[in-house]
Amino acid sequence: MKICIVGGGNLGTAMAVDFAAKNHTVNVLTSRPQDWQRKIFASITTSGEPAQEFSADLNLVTSDAAAAFDSTDYIFVTLPSHVQAAFAEKVAPFVNYKTKLVMIPGFGGAEFLLQPLLKRGAKLFGFTRVPYIARLKQYGKSVWFERKPSISLAAFRGKDTTSVVRDMEKLFTVPCAATDNYLSITLTPSNPVLHTSRLYAMFGQSDSAFERNELFYAAWNDKASEILFKLDDEVQAICRALPEVDLSDVISLKIHYESDTIPALTKKLRSISSLSKILSPMKQAADGWRPDFDNRYFKCDFEFGLDILLQFAETLKLPSPTMNEVMTWYRHKTGNFMRAVKLSDYGINSAEDIYKFYGGANSMQKTLVLIKPDAFGKGHAGAILKIYEDAGFKILAAKVMRMTPELAAKHYVEHIGRPYYPALVDFMTSAPIMALVLCGDDVIKKVRELNGATNPAEAADGTIRKLYAEDKTKNAVHASDSETSAAREILIFFGAYEIFD
Ligand code: CDP
Ligand code: MG
Repeated sequence: MKICIVGGGNLGTAMAVDFAAKNHTVNVLTSRPQDWQRKIFASITTSGEPAQEFSADLNLVTSDAAAAFDSTDYIFVTLPSHVQAAFAEKVAPFVNYKTKLVMIPGFGGAEFLLQPLLKRGAKLFGFTRVPYIARLKQYGKSVWFERKPSISLAAFRGKDTTSVVRDMEKLFTVPCAATDNYLSITLTPSNPVLHTSRLYAMFGQSDSAFERNELFYAAWNDKASEILFKLDDEVQAICRALPEVDLSDVISLKIHYESDTIPALTKKLRSISSLSKILSPMKQAADGWRPDFDNRYFKCDFEFGLDILLQFAETLKLPSPTMNEVMTWYRHKTGNFMRAVKLSDYGINSAEDIYKFYGGANSMQKTLVLIKPDAFGKGHAGAILKIYEDAGFKILAAKVMRMTPELAAKHYVEHIGRPYYPALVDFMTSAPIMALVLCGDDVIKKVRELNGATNPAEAADGTIRKLYAEDKTKNAVHASDSETSAAREILIFFGAYEIFD
């Protein structure tokens, strides 16, 4: 596969070397390409075994998005939430329908922040949790990581994750599962709950400086566990208030960490060996160690993590006293930050709106239709469009054009060599056609039903082919026959800018 990784931090570097070592072509998009070497060194630990050292060569390290994205199968984005909006704006010209963005991790507001890319047809997938525990040894040169035993992901506004799941298993070499809805990812009580509970417990009780930088997990305490349990309960209440989405994959942290009580959770978090050396986001001040509010743990997990969870609770009119308490403290500490993501800006003001946003109009299936030279030439385009519109399908793109033999060969590639192929190309290139992109619920199957059987003699009454087709070749209309062919065929006839989604 050809992969682009955006962001050269712990996770990005680990993925880059992991994939490159499996002979995938890896491009890295970073603002600091000059600090990278082509060969990256890695050391990987698997529980209980000694670390293994290896290295692998990257294909390209660049700050040029056009070059980095060029014909890649997947773009993995590891950027922190607070830079995602600017990223989306900058790279929008280089994405289209073919682009598959994979957010690692998927929570933190990507489905809002990356809207400029989604509007251009890019597909968005998010990981429930990070796939490794990873730490850079030297920026742009070496990294240590340990694999999580499995991964899971969801598609934003789409259920078709089969091929992506398969590709992720190839890339990460661990089992991958798909979760029903991106909302499961957003509501997963990972860092937005875990980090914020610990930070509030550490810094929210008193303003005095610390003598040293505390270990984040190894020195975890019961106060942090108590807050975590409360936040976790409030997240579960959000899930219960959205019964129409399957949120059964939003696992309570009590279950995730197999800890029912406060002391059990504290003991568990203190004992996870791969996390034992991680320090807290603190910086040294004149009087000791103080919180570093510019750190990703604060900026991302409060402003994009917990604050988005709180807004879901507010939208659903759930009380959520602990989320409020923790966010109020943070807001006070950081001088009333501006809400980075406002759900109301995305039309979300009720449970209905949440269903709509995550089920979403953009998830509507699309299909390519051609009104062939016979029907178009005879002036049936209007009648045919009316049939589609009356059936509830929306026209997202339309143009009158003449097919060339090259275009016909591209479009009908799977028919090359069939006995009818030369006659088909002659016919399709003989006069102008009208190309359309239609969208709507189950549009691929339903438009083919409206079109009728390939051979008009066999087409059902009332179908377009029954009404307007002459014979097996001059059969009035074409429509894509699957999601895969729709995606391929739409791109043959339209640029992303011509499709009004
Ligand atoms: O368009 P549809 O998907 O229904 O049919 P297809 O089997 O994919 O074939 C593509 C096109 O090739 C048809 O729509 C016909 O115009 C042409 N064809 C033909 O001329 N003779 C055949 N025996 C089969 C297909
Ligand atoms: Mg066909």
